[in-house]
Amino acid sequence: MGCFRCSGKSNKKLDEEIDNKNKNLNKQADKKQLIADTPRVDSNANLKKEEVSNDGQLSMDVKNLNLKDDSNNSGKSAKPFTFDELAAATGNFRSDCCLGEGGFGKVYKGCLEKIEQVVAIKQLDHRGVQGVREFSAEVMTLGSADHPNLVKLIGYCAEGDQRLLVYEYMPLGSLDKHLHDLRPDTRPLDWNTRMKIAAGASRGLQYLHEQLKQPVIYRDLKCSNILLEEGYHPKLSDFGLAKMGPSGDKTHVSTRVMGTYGYCAPDYAMTGQLTFKSDIYSFGVVLLELITGRKAIDQTKDRKELNLVAWARPMFKDRKNFSQMVDPSLQGQYPVRGLYQALAIAAMCVQEQPNMRPAITDVVMALNYLASQKYDPQNPPSRSSRKSPSCLGVNKDDDHGKNARSASNREEVKSSGQCLSNGVNT
Ligand SMILES: Nc1ncnc2c1ncn2[C@@H]1O[C@H](COP(=O)(O)OP(=O)(O)OP(=O)(O)O)[C@@H](O)[C@H]1O
Ligand SMILES: [Mg+2]
Repeated sequence: MGCFRCSGKSNKKLDEEIDNKNKNLNKQADKKQLIADTPRVDSNANLKKEEVSNDGQLSMDVKNLNLKDDSNNSGKSAKPFTFDELAAATGNFRSDCCLGEGGFGKVYKGCLEKIEQVVAIKQLDHRGVQGVREFSAEVMTLGSADHPNLVKLIGYCAEGDQRLLVYEYMPLGSLDKHLHDLRPDTRPLDWNTRMKIAAGASRGLQYLHEQLKQPVIYRDLKCSNILLEEGYHPKLSDFGLAKMGPSGDKTHVSTRVMGTYGYCAPDYAMTGQLTFKSDIYSFGVVLLELITGRKAIDQTKDRKELNLVAWARPMFKDRKNFSQMVDPSLQGQYPVRGLYQALAIAAMCVQEQPNMRPAITDVVMALNYLASQKYDPQNPPSRSSRKSPSCLGVNKDDDHGKNARSASNREEVKSSGQCLSNGVNT
């Protein structure tokens, strides 16, 4: 225990910052400034998460980060926990409680007696590549967010130099573990489950892009950040890299290039200009992984197949290739039309030009439609009996699609559809 003891001073500081932020939210709303990092082009596109490790930076970030208006959201914000409470919950961070390890540090399963809940506790590794800025971004972004497709951040601990995040526990773990290098006790996902996960993840992203008072660009959408509840209900996690979206008539935010290789939009990697369309590209990569079962980057494959998007792009041009793209572990059990439509959505999302990628609302409508079309291998649909959604596969009667769709979004999707019509024709 000795090595974990600390003063608790910084914890108070963080709590005060969060309290003040909540109280002054309305006053500050108009004055909010984006964090204007210096744009950097990394020619190797070898994207690393940034390490920032001092309390001054933490205070600055807490002041600058996005917060949803909390006035109607009392009780939903993340709560502070003491280090001792979290140590007790995990049997002093026992190795057999460890669920996995990422750029932030190790994640432990624990039981918090105070709230009688099983939780996942992420402990910042001081030698890790993610830092205090990511910690405060996570507390600020996720602490006040509330959506069925976002992992709930229950609390945090910031005692001395300890930084821990407490999340709701997601019993089925992360999506990557269900798609790649399956353990012998893990069954491959069936088609319906894949579409359900894609649709749910897109709704989580839609909440960040379009439903938060201050929209957020996620920046780290990938399979290991999509966690699964019982029933394969998906939730997005890890908002350490999230950024407030552009304000006013600005179209982008300039940032240091961060994210994960293979998921990062080429325009963002080249210019450092982050837009909502950067997230759409990453979403397209995730959707491709769901359809093909391949990894975004697979070092075991030869040069042509190493990068999933680079492999898929030429294949999109001819529908004869589509049956070769689908995950062999599906063993042919997928709807042909549904496959074409899912590939069409993925192809639009990973387009080189960001303005050709669809807006998240249109992706959500298309995927909600696809997820609603349950495939039954015993009773496969006849192609003619299916009502085909227009353009992106959008079903205009879809409940989830009743949110206002801007004319510009519709135009964008139309043009995306046209530009793909030579390639993916459903
Ligand atoms: N809330 C949770 N419930 C259950 N398991 C979780 C939870 N959060 C994380 N995990 C597990 O811990 C592993 C590590 O998660 P973590 O987010 O730290 O790393 P990562 O997503 O692989 O990488 P990165 O740091 O780039 O996000 C995940 O792959 C997942 O299996
Ligand atoms: Mg993660």
